[in-house]
Amino acid sequence: MPSPVISINGLVKKYGERVAVQGVSFSITEGEIFGLLGPNGAGKTTILSILSTLLVPDEGNATIIGHDVARETKRVKPLIGFVPQELALYQTLSAWDNLVFFGRIYGMGGAILKERITTVLALVGLSDRAGDLVQTFSGGMKRRLNIAAGLIHQPRILFLDEPTVGVDPQSRNFIFEHVERLNEGGMTIVYTTHYMEEAERLCDRVAIMDQGRILALDTMKGLVDMLGGGVIYVGLVQASVETLLPSLRSLPHVRMVVEEEGRLKIETSDSHLALLELIELCKVSNVSILSLEMLQPNLESVFLHLTGKRLRD
Ligand SMILES: Nc1ncnc2c1ncn2[C@@H]1O[C@H](COP(=O)(O)OP(=O)(O)OP(=O)(O)O)[C@@H](O)[C@H]1O
Ligand SMILES: [Mg+2]
Repeated sequence: MPSPVISINGLVKKYGERVAVQGVSFSITEGEIFGLLGPNGAGKTTILSILSTLLVPDEGNATIIGHDVARETKRVKPLIGFVPQELALYQTLSAWDNLVFFGRIYGMGGAILKERITTVLALVGLSDRAGDLVQTFSGGMKRRLNIAAGLIHQPRILFLDEPTVGVDPQSRNFIFEHVERLNEGGMTIVYTTHYMEEAERLCDRVAIMDQGRILALDTMKGLVDMLGGGVIYVGLVQASVETLLPSLRSLPHVRMVVEEEGRLKIETSDSHLALLELIELCKVSNVSILSLEMLQPNLESVFLHLTGKRLRD
């Protein structure tokens, strides 16, 4: 096993009475694209802020390449780039001057800084807009410049906090391609999102978060396999449920049946075959189906399965 570049142990963060992160532990290996997936308020930004040394945890600790993020901030900062969810740019400065500003924060200057600015502007496709004021940029261009700012000092690890919010599909694809290219160059990337399709497309492993906790953490395949062959929700007349349950449970492609909010939740080994068996059973038992919903095994249905709610309510 390669040693982790990021290691998080029992992290807790409170804002006053509110517990934003409730005992989170995981580690990330060099070269991974790691996704933190969760709805609003799950604690994603809080975790990235702790890893970026901007917030100090109340309990637990985290290390980046062996350095404690709370106690060795000077060692940690050059290793990481943080692209915040809220744009952090000076609207009345040009793209170039914004990058000069961020480069100086890292003690850069002179020819080296110029060369880096030229490189990162090219990387995010903004070379021809270098001299323009940020206030004249579109939302997608500002997002890309925000990413360039996080890359100026050539970090080994990049934190991207919902980098595609408010951008058009074209800029979104641009961002995906940058992320993939950076990763191919060896950069470790932590990517937060509440878009499942982004996590599915980009990430090697994904942690599914809700209310400050990690509910599941695995490769995409591992997470999706949790659902086996998919889940069927069926609503039946209450009086017929009791009599039907034993035969339902013994159908060849049904793994488990539980009652949930007036419906039956049927975990299957193959949802299509199980559906045919279910319909046949209802037919021979003369039971009518009041409602029917099928969840194919994907990240969306895994989230619903784990939390009982949809990711984007
Ligand atoms: N500065 C703050 N003061 C008080 N509470 C905060 C603060 N920042 C975050 N919280 C609370 O902490 C919890 C986690 O917030 P956090 O921003 O980490 O979530 P998130 O997963 O990034 O959400 P989003 O998808 O909306 O960005 C939320 O309940 C939020 O209200
Ligand atoms: Mg956030």
